[in-house]
Amino acid sequence: MATIQMRVSPEDLSQVPKGNERIPEPLIMTIFGASGDLTKRKLLPALFHLEQNGLLPARFAIVGVARRPLGDAFAADMRDGIVRFGDVDAGDPRLDNFVKKIGYFALNFDDPGHYQALKAELDRLAQENGIGNNRLYYLATAPEFFAGIIENLGAQEMAHPEHGRSAVVIEKPFGHDLASARELNHQVNGVFNESQVFRIDHYLGKETVQNILVFRFANGIFEPIWNRNYIDHVQITAAETLGVEGRGPFYEKAGALRDVVQNHVMELLSFVAMEPPSSFEAESVRREKLKVWQAIPPIPILSTVRGQYGPGVVEGQKVPGYRDEERVDPDSGTETYAAVRLEIENWRWAGVPFYLRAGKRLRKRVTEISIQFKQPPLLIFNRMQSSGPCSEIQPNLLTIRIQPDEGISLRFGAKVPTTPDMSVCPVIMDFDYASAFGRSTANGYERLLLDAMLGDQTLFAHRDGVETTWSLYTPILQGWAAKKPEVFPNYFAGKWGPECADRLLERDRNVWRNDLGKKD
Ligand code: BG6
Repeated sequence: MATIQMRVSPEDLSQVPKGNERIPEPLIMTIFGASGDLTKRKLLPALFHLEQNGLLPARFAIVGVARRPLGDAFAADMRDGIVRFGDVDAGDPRLDNFVKKIGYFALNFDDPGHYQALKAELDRLAQENGIGNNRLYYLATAPEFFAGIIENLGAQEMAHPEHGRSAVVIEKPFGHDLASARELNHQVNGVFNESQVFRIDHYLGKETVQNILVFRFANGIFEPIWNRNYIDHVQITAAETLGVEGRGPFYEKAGALRDVVQNHVMELLSFVAMEPPSSFEAESVRREKLKVWQAIPPIPILSTVRGQYGPGVVEGQKVPGYRDEERVDPDSGTETYAAVRLEIENWRWAGVPFYLRAGKRLRKRVTEISIQFKQPPLLIFNRMQSSGPCSEIQPNLLTIRIQPDEGISLRFGAKVPTTPDMSVCPVIMDFDYASAFGRSTANGYERLLLDAMLGDQTLFAHRDGVETTWSLYTPILQGWAAKKPEVFPNYFAGKWGPECADRLLERDRNVWRNDLGKKD
């Protein structure tokens, strides 16, 4: 096992916090499963952006841990990842210095002796660099290793360091159904206190997701109409154009419902539907989110639709069907699309349908929340409409664009000028993040990594929340598993999913919005 070499430079020590930002205390971040894509594509670029913004402590080290003996090649590979995926100039003078803080340790995840050696190595590194005893463990391995790593961290007394703090960040998927999530929670909480556990959902790190709360609770005009009296229905779409990107074996076991709906989409739903928390603190925010999920009655299987893409054309490129993807069963029953209709039985939302859908190889990459308001009680201009787009008065629609083209728009009716009658046409009032603030929003991991280092759990999933969302989706997954879909594939890549998904909305006389994304 290699010795990790790194040194804090005098330049780092002179770093000063900018503005009123909080800087974490010195710590070592150990990433388990560091040879996987996530570390290179997301975690290291995010950490370097934090460094560029002066948000990392001067005394800081990153130790990648995985099974292969990568040695120094690891840091070099991370450097490439930072440049390539973090949009960083390869000549940035801070980069060389940052890369010196990256070390690697080869470890067999289930060998207790290796953890003992890792602990000694981390202690030595900390001592040499004056880092002290704070540790952050990031579990980015395949989920089957989570429990074993946690158990070993506990056995080697790495979970509760003397004179220091430790925390564990756990990547999704957190369990694959209710029973496994419960078991994992039990194992995690057997070693770490809940206050040390950070279950990450990168959607919560997205600025536009946090902005849902700002939009609702920092403005006085929306909340009074944010309820069943004014809102007709809500649609949440998480559409991707990508396929499974070489992750066939993982995706075969996951599917769209587990991979995206149970976590990312449900987080979006909770932000749209929650009551105002009494403060923006972990406990208040998590409590309100939990109340939303707990108010959702069991979702009947008839209120769900699953789909799988066949070959098609996406963004002008011919793409194979899911069953022809690498390492995917040619007769696979895994869904690459899932749609759900649910209700929230509380005073604010009773009777308002929420339609959720997520899928791969769809028409457009877009994550969007549409809130459709009710029509006015009497449409006095309806008889005067001409033909074309203005032939019918359309209800107000508030659209929260999570990605891309992050922003918010409101559709309302306006009188068409120079017409003698009162023709009404829909127009859009638009707020665009990039043009308003002059830059696009950060990758979700930056905020979340920083919060985990600071010990702020507000934007992380809580044990009860994870179990509650699993309790809603486990019966559906069981129902689906019991009956293999008859017609798979049932949508062409590049379409908006299977046609049968329309029936979820038909009974409420609604339709999916397929004109998603920013209108120019
Ligand atoms: C991940 C899923 O959690 O989220 C992926 O495992 C999915 O399958 C990704 O592609 C989507 O994230 P984003 O930020 O690109 O919307």
